[in-house]
Amino acid sequence: MSITELGRTGTVPAPGGGTDLAVRAQGLVKTFGEHRAVDGIDLEVHPGEIFGVLGPNGAGKTTTLRMLATLLKIDAGRAEIFGVDVANNPHVIRQLVGVTGQYASVDENLTARENLWLFSRLQGIPAARARRISAELLGQFGLEDAAAKPISQFSGGMRRRLDLAASLITRPPLIFLDEPTTGLDPRTRGQMWDTIRGLVVDGCTVLLTTQYLDEADQLADRVAVIDHGRKVAEGTPDELKTTVGDSTLQLLLADPGQVAAAADVVRRVLGSEPVLSPERGRLNVALDQADLAADVLIALRTAGVSITSVSVDKPSLDEVFLALTGHETDDKTGEPDTATEDHR
Ligand SMILES: Nc1ncnc2c1ncn2[C@@H]1O[C@H](COP(=O)(O)OP(=O)(O)OP(=O)(O)O)[C@@H](O)[C@H]1O
Ligand SMILES: [Mg+2]
Repeated sequence: MSITELGRTGTVPAPGGGTDLAVRAQGLVKTFGEHRAVDGIDLEVHPGEIFGVLGPNGAGKTTTLRMLATLLKIDAGRAEIFGVDVANNPHVIRQLVGVTGQYASVDENLTARENLWLFSRLQGIPAARARRISAELLGQFGLEDAAAKPISQFSGGMRRRLDLAASLITRPPLIFLDEPTTGLDPRTRGQMWDTIRGLVVDGCTVLLTTQYLDEADQLADRVAVIDHGRKVAEGTPDELKTTVGDSTLQLLLADPGQVAAAADVVRRVLGSEPVLSPERGRLNVALDQADLAADVLIALRTAGVSITSVSVDKPSLDEVFLALTGHETDDKTGEPDTATEDHR
């Protein structure tokens, strides 16, 4: 069952401000007390794309989505959804956007079918139609067998799917997904990714947040990386990874005192600058080709630098962050920064 079959018109609402962007945000700011959780973020999401907002815990992802969805007041800057100003037209915006939260918002004591029926009725949909839509969504999300189970017996993956199903009841053209796969096992993540791709095939635009580069890589056409409430990079997943090379070589030295010597060897062999975590005896080295790792290892042995562990991997979010911001996602090596004190 596709969303189109469920009755979507497939047409993007007539723009109110002469723009055809699904989301246009300029200089968004949200302050909690002294803390600027979102500190001047610009976003442009095109209709029909999956746009990823990538960032570590506390970066401001949820806060950004909540402002765009009218769930939080915008303190400064402005945002439009399909050309409609968010601050001035909250009722219109709520019809254009379906929000799936980081924490599922379904009622524990009701069954999946009852939850969808209740959400439909709360949206003002007549009873018979609410029943039909609920059945269609249960089918679309593979929840038919679980339809009569109370949510308290659902797995995390089933909850996420039900939550997403609930946000599609009104067939909004734009869907916000806040960390749709955090905490899911790899197979369930894969299923969720397929579901999200299906939304776009059916004509939706998706804005999702994630902490995982691989998720952005798998799903997003374009990605904005945010850190401490600011956008630090934007581009396609491939463009982001190029900033840290094709692969990264991660080295853990037996003697942390040899980090400087190891860094000299890397500079000599590759002509590039490694990222160091001296106190932990770690070096991360961006590689244009994975097989350059062998040249580095041979040169290190010749120089008498001994190594405890070696890995060559695709760049991770950590490496992207190191390269873009100079600190790790969990700030283990970052300078002291008050903005990180209240990370959850
Ligand atoms: N209602 C609130 N009151 C005070 N501070 C808040 C509130 N909501 C968020 N914050 C703070 O704002 C910052 C950004 O939070 P936000 O939830 O947007 O981060 P996030 O990127 O979604 O993180 P996570 O990956 O953990 O979900 C954090 O420092 C957080 O503690
Ligand atoms: Mg969040």
